[in-house]
Amino acid sequence: ERHGFDHYMLKEIHEQPAALERAIRGRVTPDGDVDLEAFPPGCFSDVDDVQIVACGTSYHAALYARQLLAERGVPTQVFSAGEYATTPAPVSEHTLVIAVTQSGETADTLASIRLASERGARTLAVTNVVGSTAARVCDDAVFIRAGPEIGVAATKTFSSQVAVLTLLRERLAEDITGQRGADRERVLRALERLPGDVQQVLDQSSVESLAARYRDRDGHFFIGRGVAFPVALEGALKFKEITYEHAEGFAAGELKHGPLALVTPDTPVFAVFAGQYDDKTLNNVEEVVSRGAPVVGVGSEESTDVAATVDEFLPIPDTHPVAAGVLANVQLQLVSYHVADLLGRSIDKPRNLAKSVTVE
Ligand code: M6R
Repeated sequence: ERHGFDHYMLKEIHEQPAALERAIRGRVTPDGDVDLEAFPPGCFSDVDDVQIVACGTSYHAALYARQLLAERGVPTQVFSAGEYATTPAPVSEHTLVIAVTQSGETADTLASIRLASERGARTLAVTNVVGSTAARVCDDAVFIRAGPEIGVAATKTFSSQVAVLTLLRERLAEDITGQRGADRERVLRALERLPGDVQQVLDQSSVESLAARYRDRDGHFFIGRGVAFPVALEGALKFKEITYEHAEGFAAGELKHGPLALVTPDTPVFAVFAGQYDDKTLNNVEEVVSRGAPVVGVGSEESTDVAATVDEFLPIPDTHPVAAGVLANVQLQLVSYHVADLLGRSIDKPRNLAKSVTVE
């Protein structure tokens, strides 16, 4: 079943090129348009604002999507689904509430969409499972086509969620603002290249030796800005989930508002660069370098300034930021996997966790 891989997680990390291929297939037309089956141009014209509800890794994909929607001028809020009911945001019949949920069965996410429906919002599920509760409860559904994910740690579903949310962003933004984004063509080209770019990362990644050096530390911090911020959060979540070591993700700009007090030579910092605001993140890297923390940079293979500043550099193919975040995340998935493997952890079934969280 694992086809020669030691764990389902590693198999699923390696399935990402094929999963992304399926996520995009037929949805980008040869003339550079987005074709999302049941969502023809104009179908979101009556939407004024977007709210996204999700948990865990899917919440990070939602934060990624918020960044993308904001860049196109779409008012967007993101809620950790467990908090949606506690902080009721105004909704109207012109609010689109998107549930991002791999399984389509996460209790908090389902409760949020039921609440949104009751309050009169339009609902849309972005899910991997056809026939899931989320797909049935929402007014509409878009499927990410990642294929079954057995490992408790979400890997390929995150990448596929981001790819599909990027396509959905193009449809939504055009319908809501009446304009195509200036860089839309570059975004779609980057998406089409993404399966091959992920394959390149998988073929060339050298994280195994790095993992041996960073497996026994006081803490592990992950920082980023723009789309690299949710990738930092996701890198930390994956790390703590499967290595059982302490890890935290921060917006790079938050470091000096508190977390910097924790930074020592025994706390490696993983800095994510997606080709947006990289100079500012480099300033933050310099702050941690001067506290003696080892820094692992993940960024474009062409970012010589990043490579020159960090202690170790995990390169990704040079591409649009939309795709760069996904590629950086693949490098971080591999870091977490190899550290957990060296520590002998139960990678596919981490302690205390379940694949699908069906209680609130
Ligand atoms: O099925 P969902 O996408 O709704 O699951 C949400 C979270 O439970 C899930 O993403 C979880 O955080 C991951 N398994 C972590 O790797």
